[in-house]
Formats: sequence, C-alpha cells, structure tokens
Amino acid sequence: MQTIKQYLNQLVSQALGKVADISAANANVITASRPEFGDYQANGIMAIAKQMKTNPRELAIRVVAELDTVNEPLVASFKIAGPGFININLNSKALCERANLIRQENNPLISTAEQPSTIVIDFSSPNLAKEMHVGHLRGTIIGDCLARVLETKGHRIIRQNHVGDWGTQFGMLIAYLQEVSADTEELPTRLADLETFYRAAKERFDSDPSFAESARQSVVKLQSGDSVYLDIWKQFIEESLSHCEAIYSRLNVTLSRSDLCAESFYNKELEDIVNKLDNISLITVSDGAKCVFLPEFSGKDGTPLPTIIQKSDGGYLYATTDLAAARYRYQKLEADRALYVVDARQSLHFQQVFAVARKAEFVGPSLSLEHIAYGTMMGADGKPFKTRSGGIVKLKELLDEGVKRAFDLVTEKNPQLDETLRRQIAERTGIAAIKYADLSKNRTSDYIFEWSSMLSFDGNTAPYLMYAYARIRSILNKHEVKDNNYSITLLSSNEERNLLLKILQLSEIVDAVAADCYPNQLCNYLYELAGIFMRFYEACPILQAEGEVKISRLALAAFTAEALAQGLDLLGIEPLEQM
Ligand code: ARG
Repeated sequence: MQTIKQYLNQLVSQALGKVADISAANANVITASRPEFGDYQANGIMAIAKQMKTNPRELAIRVVAELDTVNEPLVASFKIAGPGFININLNSKALCERANLIRQENNPLISTAEQPSTIVIDFSSPNLAKEMHVGHLRGTIIGDCLARVLETKGHRIIRQNHVGDWGTQFGMLIAYLQEVSADTEELPTRLADLETFYRAAKERFDSDPSFAESARQSVVKLQSGDSVYLDIWKQFIEESLSHCEAIYSRLNVTLSRSDLCAESFYNKELEDIVNKLDNISLITVSDGAKCVFLPEFSGKDGTPLPTIIQKSDGGYLYATTDLAAARYRYQKLEADRALYVVDARQSLHFQQVFAVARKAEFVGPSLSLEHIAYGTMMGADGKPFKTRSGGIVKLKELLDEGVKRAFDLVTEKNPQLDETLRRQIAERTGIAAIKYADLSKNRTSDYIFEWSSMLSFDGNTAPYLMYAYARIRSILNKHEVKDNNYSITLLSSNEERNLLLKILQLSEIVDAVAADCYPNQLCNYLYELAGIFMRFYEACPILQAEGEVKISRLALAAFTAEALAQGLDLLGIEPLEQM
C-alpha cells in the first residue's frame, strides 16, 4: 500500500502535469506545516508556474478544478491558499477504512518499497585490539537502526562489520604477550581485560625502543603468514570478538558472526588495487610512498592532498583496504547503495576513498556511496566523554552504569516489586535509555551525554515511550482486546482523528529515515505520537464509553500500541508489557 503522502503526491502531480501539460510535474506534497493548513499541502505549484511564466494562483485554481473532477474518496477538500499552495483535508471515514484494512487484512503498517534494492551497511566496525569503548556506541546503534529500517522496507540488507583486525597494533600485542608469558594456554585469562592488556603493551612500546623493535618484527612475521604468530593472532581476535558479541547482545543489535568482514579479508586484494591504480597512471610516488593525488583534494594553503595507498616499506593503509572493500561491495555484493556509518572525523578519508574508487572504476555509477557521518558523544564539560581521570570509558562500563541507575530508579518507584523483576526492567530501560538518548539526537551533531535527562519519565526519552506503551497495554488487557478484531469506526473528536492520522504517518517517517538516514526523525515522531495519545486518552474516555464508541477507541488504542512497538523495534528497543 502506498503511504498517504505518496498517494496524494501522485494524485496532485498527475493533475498538475495534465493542466500544465508537462510529463514529470512534482506537486511536492508534504505533511501540513500547521494544522490550519489541513492535513497535507502541495507546495510544487509555484515552481511549475514560474517555469511556465504563468500566475501561480491561477494555475492552482485550474489544478484544483481538475482534482475536483476526480472525486477522490480519500480527500474531503482541496483548498487554494496564499500564492498557490493547495491545502488538502482528508476524509475521516476513508482514514478509518485505511486503518482497518491495515489492521484486519494484515497489511503492514509500514509499506514496503516498490523496488527493493541491495544495500550494504558498514557499521560498528571496531578495532579488535581493544575493547569497545563509548566512541563505538553511536555507529553501532545508528547502523543497526538503519539496517532495521531498510530491511523493514523490503530491501536486501548486507551488514558488514568491517572490524580492524590487522596492522601494527597486533604485532605489539603479540610481542607483549610473548614477553609476559610464554604460555599461550594462559591467553584467555590474560585477555579477560583486553583494555588493560593493550594499555600495558602500548606503554612498553612507547617507552622501550628494543620492545618496539620486536613488536615491528612480530608484525612482519604475522604478515608473512608465520603459523605461530597467526595462531596467537587468531586467539586475540577470537577473544576480542566475544567481547563485542556480548555488547551487541546487550544492546539488542542485529550483528552476528556472519556479518563479519574484517580488514584482513581484503589482504589478498591489496596488491591488485595498487597495480590497477598504477596501470591507469593514478599513482605518484611521494617520499617513497605511493599516493593518488586528485585535483579536488587540497590543503588549506592549496597544496595537493594525497590519498596514501602504499607506504615506502611496502605496508598498505586503511584507505587501500577501503578501496578493496568498495570494489567488493560493488562487484561481489552487487550493492545499489553502500552506507558507511562512521565517525564524522573520517569524512575526508571517505571523500577521498569514494573519489578514487570512482576514478579507478572500482565501483560503477549505479552504486551510491554514502558516508553516514555522526558526531562525538561529549561529557558535561563539553569535551569528548572520558572517565574522571581522563581515561577511555569502556562501553560495557557505560551500559552497567545505565542499568544500575535504572535499577535505583525502579526500586525507588516500585520498592514492592520482586528484585528479579526490578533487575529485568532495569536492564531493558537502562540500555534503552542510553540508546534512545543517542538516536534521538541529530546524528551529525556532537551531543552532551547526560544521565539525568535520559532516564527521566518526562520528555523525549525511552522510559517515557516505554511507559506510554505499557500504559496502553494495560488498558487493552483490562478490556481483553485481542488481536485485530475491533474496528476504528468513529472519529468524532479532533483528538481521535489526530491520533489516527499520526499512526498512519509512521510509514512516511520510515521512508524519510530510509532515504536520509536520520533516526532522530523516527524518535521525534514516536515522541509526538505518545503525546497525541496522551491527549486522546485525557479527552476521550475509554472506560466510561459504551458501545461502538468504546470499541472504536479501544481499537485506536491498540493501533497506537502497534505503531509504538513497531517504531521502537526499528530503534532496536523492546518495550515492556508492564513497568
Ligand atoms: N575500524 C575503524 C575505526 O575504528 C572503522 C571502520 C569503518 N569502516 C570502514 N569501511 N572504514 O575507526
């Protein structure tokens, strides 16, 4: 089923095209920017009038006359406003019919794309030498949300966890391991705290040149395929991955082993990448390193900026691997879109990789390469989030603290609840609160991480939405509303009508997120939806109502719960039936 917006856009565009005698007219129908403009408005008349050098209001009059001949059941009225807008009011009965069709015929509330495409989403992608830290939160959950959204739209999604599992840090770790213990059996216990292990190794590396040298030799051994070194390396990777998986599972993130496509996967391709670039004369040697200079990249003073492809010692770089990955995504995975959900500080890297990949035709024009950049999570001091002593905060510690705070809150609110239940509620809400606080911010901005606001039951937070959901469920349970057996038939008040229209618009918001990749749009929508429900609930008694009114309102409440649950699920948040 098309969304209302798509349907109206098609309807008005056709009429506009006919009247203006142009084939591809876009009426640009949007949700009305103010209630007094109706439900939707068409903004595209003025642009076409300008193109035709005609009076926009007159054109709008002719378009509306054309639309009025159709007698469209979904629309109650088309009205001309201002210089040539068309305000559109929908027919309430038709809205009910649409809703009941979705509920009873098992049509999805979120419509699927007419043309499914193949979309690669590169997200989370931590470096495996260390444990995941707070800096990995955003990429992991924004990527997961986009994967869920695009999958729900019916696209074929290929998740790619492009973990950093290769490079000099592993030489350092292996050398350090050999120094502290010759016994590889001991490895798992040694690595239980990967972060401390990494830090100790790094300290040795920075302070002792002879250790640094043996670290470098370890890298050479590893990269030349020495089986002893490879074996230790694999154990590091294994240990580190199990840390990541524990985090993914707690975060309810849809990443599994089969989504892993590590940097080392591309090792065998790197030489070929360099040769191909060389063959088409894109390589310039600068200070012994092989570089690509493209005219569009230059520094502040105008000096050309290189994309370094191979170091003078023969080592390959992050960009080399990314070129191989882009080619793989285009040629082998046959992607139409490749989304890279990565920190905004890597913007230049991706601009360069994308440009070189296109220039060298590693990817064709049919592939859209998109850096889905996100900003930094900041502490209260406005600097990147750190521990009190300025250290890196492990993601696990952050989640633990969120859950602990949620537990204290639940205990304060509901001391009589069984402790196991309080712990379950705390695990869900604590983690949901952290996720939601992040997803609800515009992803490109930095944001200040603040415990008190994210755990609040008021405002645009996970606890507020989860509570709204649980509240509706408890109303429905009292009335034994099962499944979809009740119809929405009456929209006698504004509150009922606003609520129904809002629910039906979920699909439009999901379309927007699928196109632009801003999960905060979905959060804002859910927050508004919950607010509109609360106003409905205050204005339209359900308990005291009778007959058809009661049934229609119960059905509307059930439909709200469905929309909330689906929206939260797209954010990777599981609501609770009871809170
Ligand atoms: N491992 C990288 C980092 O931690 C992120 C990788 C992102 N994906 C990519 N294809 N470069 O910064």
